[in-house]
Amino acid sequence: MTNTTAPKISDPSVLTVNNTKTSRQSSPPDITSPKPHLAPAPMAPPAATTSGLTRRSPVLIPFTTCHFRTSQGACKTTPRLKSASVNTDGSHEESDENSRTILEASGVDVAAMRESYESHGLTKADLAADPIEQFELWFINWIRTEPYDPNAVIIATVDNNQWPSARAVLLKGVDKNGFVFHTNRTSDKGKDLERSKRVAMCFLWHPLERQIRVVGQVEHLDDSISDAYFASRPRGAQIGAWASPQSQVLANRTELDDLLAVTKARFAEDEDDLGSPVPRPPHWGGYLVRPLSIEFWQGRRNRLHDRLRYRRAESQAHLPSNESDWVIERLAP
Ligand SMILES: Cc1cc2nc3c(=O)[nH]c(=O)nc-3n(C[C@H](O)[C@H](O)[C@H](O)COP(=O)(O)O)c2cc1C
Repeated sequence: MTNTTAPKISDPSVLTVNNTKTSRQSSPPDITSPKPHLAPAPMAPPAATTSGLTRRSPVLIPFTTCHFRTSQGACKTTPRLKSASVNTDGSHEESDENSRTILEASGVDVAAMRESYESHGLTKADLAADPIEQFELWFINWIRTEPYDPNAVIIATVDNNQWPSARAVLLKGVDKNGFVFHTNRTSDKGKDLERSKRVAMCFLWHPLERQIRVVGQVEHLDDSISDAYFASRPRGAQIGAWASPQSQVLANRTELDDLLAVTKARFAEDEDDLGSPVPRPPHWGGYLVRPLSIEFWQGRRNRLHDRLRYRRAESQAHLPSNESDWVIERLAP
């Protein structure tokens, strides 16, 4: 990987993501209306527990998800309820036919779930020359649509046996150098990243019928930036970063609770005293993803979606996005 100067995340042009606000906002050119959100299904009350006994509690499995919405957002199916039993250990028993799965008993037809994407089209003429700028425009639109962790993104890594794995993280910054997230560098994903320096990211912004895919190279964020971000975290999360050996197998929850208690004591935290400041653990920090390709996907009717991908040569990965030669090409849906 090419060594480069540290990204200037403190730069006012940087969009910093903290779940409640962004430090820079401009009016997006496209105003997108999400499809109406459906009310969440009512949850069954938790099964009653008695000491040492597993008691069966009848519950209703709700089926209120709409799988046949019209383009106007109306639901074409009638919610159904089927009765079943759920044991306190989480196992289920259906009351009618044991051969049917819970989904079948609840009338859920996964294969029939489909949406028709009809809101927008996307052409090269719609795109900014700089893919990071294009990302920011779509992201601002998205955070106005989704209030709950709009900065969540799936990242995929590959281990030394070429097994891929994917998990969510929170995007914590984006600027001309790329995308930032923080994690434990000795976790499974951390080991993968340290070894391969490669990552894929997938932002799924379904109510806007959009997806953004990024493939890039990772490098450590400058220590001072990781320190500053760690210092901004709630104390509980700081302690947790020391206490949890992320990705390691635990015997039970008590093991984690014990690790937490030891860590709290280490930082002299007790019920009466908040304790000493918590420094960033040496194994914890930020990664900067320098993109090599960024694909913008816009859902269209009959699965003939618009896919426009920016890509640049690996030799340009160290350059700010607005100083790179990006090729923009349309991909078949
Ligand atoms: C919405 C969401 C956001 C998350 N954000 C982070 C994050 O920013 N950093 C992190 O290390 N784990 C985050 N996690 C937990 C990861 O998904 C994952 O469980 C953890 O990092 C261990 O992954 P690994 O064992 O593959 O390394 C998040 C999980 C969810 C559901």
